Amino acid sequence: MTTPISAQPAHDDRASAAAASPVVLSPAGPADHWWQSAVIYEVYPRSFADGDGDGVGDLAGLIHRLPYIASLGVDGIWMTPFQPSPQVDQGYDVSDYCGVDPLFGSMADFERLLAGAHALGLRVLLDVVPNHCSSRHPLFQAALAAGPGSPERGLFHFVEGRSSSPEHPSDLPPNNWQSVFGGTAWSRANPGSETDTEWYLHLFSAGQPDWNWRNPAVGDYFDGVLRFWFDKGVDGLRIDVAHALFKADGLPDAPSESPVVDGLRSNPLVSDQEEVHEVYRRWRRLAEKYQPHRLLVGEVNLEPSRAARYTRADEMHQAFAFAFVKLGWDAAAWAQAGSELEEARLLHGAAPTWALENHDIVRTVTRFGGGDQGARRARAALAALLGLPGAAYIYQGQELGLPEVDVPVEARVDPMWARGGVTRDGSRVPLPWTEDPAGNHGFSTGPTATPPWLPLPDGWGDNAIESQQQDPGSALAFAARALALRRQLWADGTFTADDAGTWRLRAGNLLTCERSPRFLVAVAMGSEPVELPPGVVLFSAFPLEQEGWLQPDNAVWLRRS
Ligand code: BGC
Repeated sequence: MTTPISAQPAHDDRASAAAASPVVLSPAGPADHWWQSAVIYEVYPRSFADGDGDGVGDLAGLIHRLPYIASLGVDGIWMTPFQPSPQVDQGYDVSDYCGVDPLFGSMADFERLLAGAHALGLRVLLDVVPNHCSSRHPLFQAALAAGPGSPERGLFHFVEGRSSSPEHPSDLPPNNWQSVFGGTAWSRANPGSETDTEWYLHLFSAGQPDWNWRNPAVGDYFDGVLRFWFDKGVDGLRIDVAHALFKADGLPDAPSESPVVDGLRSNPLVSDQEEVHEVYRRWRRLAEKYQPHRLLVGEVNLEPSRAARYTRADEMHQAFAFAFVKLGWDAAAWAQAGSELEEARLLHGAAPTWALENHDIVRTVTRFGGGDQGARRARAALAALLGLPGAAYIYQGQELGLPEVDVPVEARVDPMWARGGVTRDGSRVPLPWTEDPAGNHGFSTGPTATPPWLPLPDGWGDNAIESQQQDPGSALAFAARALALRRQLWADGTFTADDAGTWRLRAGNLLTCERSPRFLVAVAMGSEPVELPPGVVLFSAFPLEQEGWLQPDNAVWLRRS
């Protein structure tokens, strides 16, 4: 159904004269394909730096700390949502796609940020959330008010419920779909009303109604959103839950045998519908109307062979390779996952886009065992990641070797905790900038320092950026060295966009990935030292104790002799 109402975001009146920020960057890779070699740093704005002392990170704080990001040697940043939002899901519930939430600052702040980043040679990617909006979004509010059968409701999935008995019409959700955050994926539009007995679909929290992408007005609306940010000069977009925009026609029940533990992945009816690819073809055409072309990177949480279809030549440029995120410290499993990604690359052409951490995932230090061993493995894993063929994304704090924090139950705010008993708060704790506890360990630089939105644990200052900058043995110093060498190897032609990824599990749980006959990445994932293949070690996560041998939980980049 095509709704006659206008779904265009009203943005023109807000575009300031100084809006477009020219991109003058010298990319490490081929001019038009800078993203193929790029390392992007994910900024979670509420936890990065707080410029006004209210305990929540903001754009002013980020502007102030941009030189730090540039000093890492990354190519750009991806910022998670800062648009107006009730913050039910920390900004992934957007009520105005073309604004800035006052919690984070103003549009003028964003324009300063963009110009400042570009001046430092950093690209800026934003998050776009096209699967759902906030229940406070004016179009959803209008749909609620307009009532059943209205064109306004056609922008979302409003459906009559099932009935447990003739006396209780529509008292049950329309189908058996589960929310990713736990419980049914449906809420009553107007609880208690006898005339409005419709339910609306939300794959996440009740505050995040899903758009109905079968209605062409939704596609038109998002074209406007993309144009708004591209016109401003942003370099690209990370697409949230990119595989889920279309739901199976008619919204049938999921097969009863589907487990309900992990909503999206286990329900084939809410994910990876063929129609979604047309959206990304359209967005790619739009992105290529700009100079330089704007980048599209998708959160496509599917198995490699399916995810790779989203990066066919006329769709997105990148989709995160999440394969290793689901694995422990297990060489056989990594070799298998790596080989599957390589098969997908050979089939569809785009190299994997590596990520080991983000704001939804338990930090690697903790995932790989915690303590000193977890910290060693996290560093070795990051070394491997940066040596692999393809682009890489690192998450703020990963360069510091931060562990997951066990946030006290009473302080947890993630909606997943309330609905599903799992919290992602532990990877979102504000960064420690200074050892000195003043100003929330330097996180808050404003006139006052309100306690941060998530409490900092004892000893957090031991990870401080300021101290790590002084210590050549720190996680931070290691990350900066790896990034600098990676850049150099791209510049001198050792690394190329055509490199392959031939994965092998070798004796003693030595995992290797050969990106060309001349270059190999090796990670020792067993419990004994292992002999390395012949070659010159260009880089190691930790100093080698014996030439030609790799100690457990160390990784190297090797030039083959
Ligand atoms: C984001 C999450 C968010 C969810 C719903 C995800 O993929 O990364 O943080 O809760 O989408 O928008």
